[in-house]
Amino acid sequence: MSNLTKNILCIGAGYVGVPSMAMIAYKCPEYKVTVVDIDSGRINAWNSNILPIYEPGLDKIIQKTRNINLFFSTDVENEIKKNDIIFICVNTPTKNHGIGAGKATDLQYLENVIRQIGKYSNSPKIIVEKSTVPVRTAGFIKKILDTESEYSFTILSNPEFMAEGTAINDLAFPARVLIGSDETESGIAARNELIEIYSAWIPTEKIITTNLWSSELSKLAANAFLAQRISSINSISALCEKTGADITEISHSVGMDERIGGKFLTSGIGFGGSCFKKDISSLIYLCECYGLTEVAAYWEGVLNINEYQQKRFVDKIVKSCNSIAEKKICVLGCAFKTDSDDVRESPAIGIIKQLQEEGAHIVVSDPQALKSLSRQFGETIRYEVDPYEAVKECNLVLLLTDWNIFKNLDYAKIYKSMEKPAYIFDGRNIIDIQRCKEIGFEVYSIGKG
Ligand code: NAD
Ligand code: UGA
Repeated sequence: MSNLTKNILCIGAGYVGVPSMAMIAYKCPEYKVTVVDIDSGRINAWNSNILPIYEPGLDKIIQKTRNINLFFSTDVENEIKKNDIIFICVNTPTKNHGIGAGKATDLQYLENVIRQIGKYSNSPKIIVEKSTVPVRTAGFIKKILDTESEYSFTILSNPEFMAEGTAINDLAFPARVLIGSDETESGIAARNELIEIYSAWIPTEKIITTNLWSSELSKLAANAFLAQRISSINSISALCEKTGADITEISHSVGMDERIGGKFLTSGIGFGGSCFKKDISSLIYLCECYGLTEVAAYWEGVLNINEYQQKRFVDKIVKSCNSIAEKKICVLGCAFKTDSDDVRESPAIGIIKQLQEEGAHIVVSDPQALKSLSRQFGETIRYEVDPYEAVKECNLVLLLTDWNIFKNLDYAKIYKSMEKPAYIFDGRNIIDIQRCKEIGFEVYSIGKG
């Protein structure tokens, strides 16, 4: 007889839905966890030996749980009927049309899911909002469900704070788990059910509770604060280049002040990823809607510096070489960060596009993200898994992702195989500049005078 006494459903089998549900399945063996998605290709891949995303350590947890208490399915309708706790992990991108285009959150995917839940539910349910949403979205969810269904629904906000590349560690040892709820009888009961799940592996003092709106807004604020630190250090990197100061030394000394802290002070070509830009844009839009023009302008500055940092990098490349038309440029790293295959909003994408506009020929090497990149660029660029093959006969090498393997390449061997003069533009400050200069390279790194 099965020991699975409790059921959880997650709608959305993406970068957040699957790692977070796999962790629950792993830590709570008495729960049957099902993840559904409308993308049958993705679900087939989750059920296969070749998982659809690269996330270190996820494969091991999936091996231990899949078809034991973790299941993947496309049968959204039946799974809604069978489960009383439903996590929502669908995408909430930036709107690209109509009112608020480029800033507001596009809630159409979330709304579709809510309407499906309303339509197919045959009992009261707890809805856990894990997707990142504008503050007060839980109210909008409740309103739809109240009109779509005769059953009662309790909405919880439980934003996810994991980062890609370190998701498994972040989920196993989170800084905090945040649960927002109403202080009603049903809100408190639902919150307690969620606390029970997380307390299987997370110390209770790290599970914090707030009202719904604080929980939703905390998520946007946390991402905005993290991105703001990156823009702050990147803004100083521009001044370093003018003055002879060194941004790595500044990050180190500034970060040693405990009040500031040393994390998220690595200067580079700006932040990428599917969330920072979209979540700050959402925050800006919210502020504008509430008439908070000055607050909106403050956060706009974080995005402006991020764009400026990428533009500065491309300007430097073009100016250093006079022209890059017909030059061969090797891009080492296209993932938005190390240990990920994700290229959503990756700085590499914007940089490659600008270089193509200048007439350069691009070859890219990346240990995990070439497949994702090829969906964007098709045959307009060349893809090489082996970095030593990629650099051959190139005039320039650009380091755009901080993969460890790029730190430890044999740069003397690379220099030999390149056209001369050979340039390195280190967008992540990962190479030994002195050594590369001695080899013969012309070197540019961010924030070094
Ligand atoms: P994703 O695009 O990887 O996954 C979303 C999935 O939802 C897709 O597979 C899509 O097919 C599915 N989906 C959309 N509509 C559906 C429907 N009607 N029924 C069933 N499935 C449906 O997105 P993600 O990166 O996992 O992000 C999901 C949410 O989590 C976003 O709100 C994001 O801001 C937030 N978030 C992401 C991260 C991250 O590291 N990626 C971290 C924290 C929070
Ligand atoms: C980020 C947050 O760190 C997570 O807490 C959050 O849950 C997630 O967004 C989300 O909401 O999606 P993620 O985007 O996966 O996670 O990765 P980060 O490690 O935050 O890196 C984001 C970008 O900033 C990357 O392009 C990275 O290279 C860049 N970065 C990071 C820097 O340029 N400098 C730094 O010091 C740190």
